[in-house]
Amino acid sequence: MLTIALPKGRIGDDALGIFEKIFSKPFAFEERKLILQMEGFRFLRVRSQDVPTYVYHQAADLGVVGLDVLEEKGLDLVRLLDLGFGRCSVSIGIKADEELRFDKPSYKVATKMENITRRFFSQKAIPVEIIKLYGSIELAPLVGLADMIVDIVETGETMKQNGLKPALDIMESSAYLIANTNSFYAKKEEILRLRQRIQEVL
Ligand code: PRP
Repeated sequence: MLTIALPKGRIGDDALGIFEKIFSKPFAFEERKLILQMEGFRFLRVRSQDVPTYVYHQAADLGVVGLDVLEEKGLDLVRLLDLGFGRCSVSIGIKADEELRFDKPSYKVATKMENITRRFFSQKAIPVEIIKLYGSIELAPLVGLADMIVDIVETGETMKQNGLKPALDIMESSAYLIANTNSFYAKKEEILRLRQRIQEVL
């Protein structure tokens, strides 16, 4: 049996949609249930940011999660397949009437993705103070908490509605099928067979 950690929300729903196609039957968690057992698979319903943690500690053999979350977590996991959905970018956002420039001694950057942000600015040797937030990131520049933000842009609507614009893309993201390294060796055939079936329906 394979245990697969899925994030709540769109990416998790799309992942279950793949299994619906493979087995030609509905796959859905019952309301408030966190485990779903079907066709020899056990699905776990977890917070997106927790998917790599479940897989890394082998509480799940496999997981589906955005590349942005994988890059932010930085855990040693096997990236098996780019599933192609859940596309978004991680972008620098600034006020719509401003221009992106780095001529001040330091900038305040609000984000929930501290590691991606730190890596990006240190590679560019741009000094920044990172302000860690947990949501509503777009608010920070509007009230002077930060000069800019680093956040997920999907349609761009959230930034637009809040008087911001994406000024630079740091990375592109989509959903990935990932595996625990030990599970990958112990259950290699089973996992590769599943990957093959997923590729066929994508
Ligand atoms: C993300 C992100 C933006 C929004 C961007 O939040 O933080 O607020 O989506 O999407 P858009 O470009 O289509 O407007 P998410 O919905 O993942 O919720 P969270 O902030 O609670 O993680």
